[in-house]
Amino acid sequence: MKKSHDIFKIEHIDPLGQGVSKTEEDVFFVYNTLEGEEGTADVDGQKKGVSFGHLPTTEQLTKVSPHRVHPECPHFFSCNGCHFLHTPYQNEISIKLNSLKRSLKLYERKTGNLTKEESIFSHQSEERFNTRNRIQLHYDLSKKRLGLIGHKKNQIIEVPECLIGTKEIQEEIKKLYKDESWIKIIPKNSPKNGHIEIIANANSEVSVVFNHPYSHGGFTQVNQKMNKVLRNLVTKHALECFSDSDVIFDLFGGSGNLSKKIKNKPCIIYDSYGDGMLVEKDGHQEFIRQNLYSKKAPEIIVKKLQQHTNPGVIIDPPRSGLKNITDFFPENSNVKNIIYVSCNPATLFRDIANLKNYKIEHIHLVDLFPCTFHYETVCVLSKNK
Ligand SMILES: C[S@@+](CC[C@H](N)C(=O)[O-])C[C@H]1O[C@@H](n2cnc3c(N)ncnc32)[C@H](O)[C@@H]1O
Repeated sequence: MKKSHDIFKIEHIDPLGQGVSKTEEDVFFVYNTLEGEEGTADVDGQKKGVSFGHLPTTEQLTKVSPHRVHPECPHFFSCNGCHFLHTPYQNEISIKLNSLKRSLKLYERKTGNLTKEESIFSHQSEERFNTRNRIQLHYDLSKKRLGLIGHKKNQIIEVPECLIGTKEIQEEIKKLYKDESWIKIIPKNSPKNGHIEIIANANSEVSVVFNHPYSHGGFTQVNQKMNKVLRNLVTKHALECFSDSDVIFDLFGGSGNLSKKIKNKPCIIYDSYGDGMLVEKDGHQEFIRQNLYSKKAPEIIVKKLQQHTNPGVIIDPPRSGLKNITDFFPENSNVKNIIYVSCNPATLFRDIANLKNYKIEHIHLVDLFPCTFHYETVCVLSKNK
């Protein structure tokens, strides 16, 4: 059993942005640390053989990384919304890329398929701050607290100076905190604990909604500028590898974001949510509502794919990925190329390791979520001849 504080020695940073410190007795995951650092951290939780904690201040470091900087955000050490503000953005990208390569190594070990270093690319954001057009804050009415989740259990950290939102979002957050105005506008009969979502649309108009499910009204990417980078990449690869295709299936396509610019092919979007109101009006996109996690989904999609001679596929599932991917692309599948986009490298590589007939051509890390451990990965796959 650990004490409330314990020592650490960081070997590397894991995919969740935590430093990993190992001893014979346990593994200690510590937020706000960097590779090679040593010191004492607060212990926030523990299970058998595994402990979780965070470094609350740099004064508790006995060995400091040369990559450490003073965080620009005053809330960084207590808030768990951002994970890398204690290091320059360039190093954040290196940490993310290393983490992606570690996940890739596991895939390589499992499949024996190696990916050349020159096939892996990273695309960073021009700006580290002011990028997110949607932020969810949590509230506790009895404690009169509004903010992001902290490192301790059930802890809400007030973040009136949060830097990651776009300018309009940051202004709205300040307004919500001013004179506790969020308490005054919260609808009657709201639960005592809940969340507020602050959303800026493409015209920078801001709305504030209370206790709606995440992404109500349909999924949209949270970083407009980097979403363009992501879409351009997918479009470029689609034009190359689907050049002979008669159709493109955009699976988990939402409002058709990723196939929007592939104008020279018919694109069929499959998603369980939405009604296709946002698909391109020029007719190249069609929307079909389909629960892709249903038992029958693989059979339905395989049948639809077989109606075409050479279908291309883009797939962009939620973080849980598509565990039964081989049911969608069996050995005799007529799909030659797949562009798999994912915000979770663990499930991405788990899924494609099962696709024994396909190999990786290119991998791109696209940083849609600066400051946090999240990023998007684009994997271009081709079927073995
Ligand atoms: C990561 S988003 C990608 C959306 C789109 N490709 C984009 O770039 O905006 C995942 C999508 O999966 C959809 N989704 C979630 N569960 C689903 C299900 N059971 N069946 C089909 N689509 C689902 C969501 O509605 C969401 O649009």
